[in-house]
Amino acid sequence: MAKQALILYYSQFDTTAKLASQIHRLTGADILRIKVAAGTFPDDMTATDKIYKQQRASGQLPALTTKLPKLDYYDTILVGGPVWDGQIASPIMQLLKQLQGYAGVVAPFSTGWSATGNYQQDFRAHAGKLHVVDGYHVLTHAAPRFAVPTLATWLRKL
Ligand SMILES: Cc1cc2nc3c(=O)[nH]c(=O)nc-3n(C[C@H](O)[C@H](O)[C@H](O)COP(=O)(O)O)c2cc1C
Repeated sequence: MAKQALILYYSQFDTTAKLASQIHRLTGADILRIKVAAGTFPDDMTATDKIYKQQRASGQLPALTTKLPKLDYYDTILVGGPVWDGQIASPIMQLLKQLQGYAGVVAPFSTGWSATGNYQQDFRAHAGKLHVVDGYHVLTHAAPRFAVPTLATWLRKL
């Protein structure tokens, strides 16, 4: 991946953060953690799920408190997030809205517990006209698990 790349990621419990750091180490890409206001999501999966379902139903997405850098400097943006209900998390929905108009490649990556579900399809469905490529999706308690060779193979294709 001999390009100018930016890693943007959201992570509630730091699993996606670890994957984002690995990608950063392997690529040297710039990296930025996307945050929402403190208290938006409780430190509990079931309670977070309830809020997430409401957000998806109402379309009221959480505002991002992270200011994005100038994106036209980058050829590729790698967008990482956790799998929520087999879909993208609401901060990633919000991020994809803010990325509209970006002309480079958008490459999703995700971490889930045991089932990636429709993550890639949902990502594309919320990406508008962004140029989305096939992502790197791994699980912590089922296959496919994270492995440096599979990550490196994916990164080489970008
Ligand atoms: C609201 C919510 C829904 C989730 N839904 C799924 C799911 O559908 N499939 C799955 O494998 N893991 C699911 N998980 C688990 C997370 O995807 C998984 O633990 C992920 O690695 C967490 O990443 P993070 O630490 O970066 O937030 C869910 C977690 C939350 C909070």
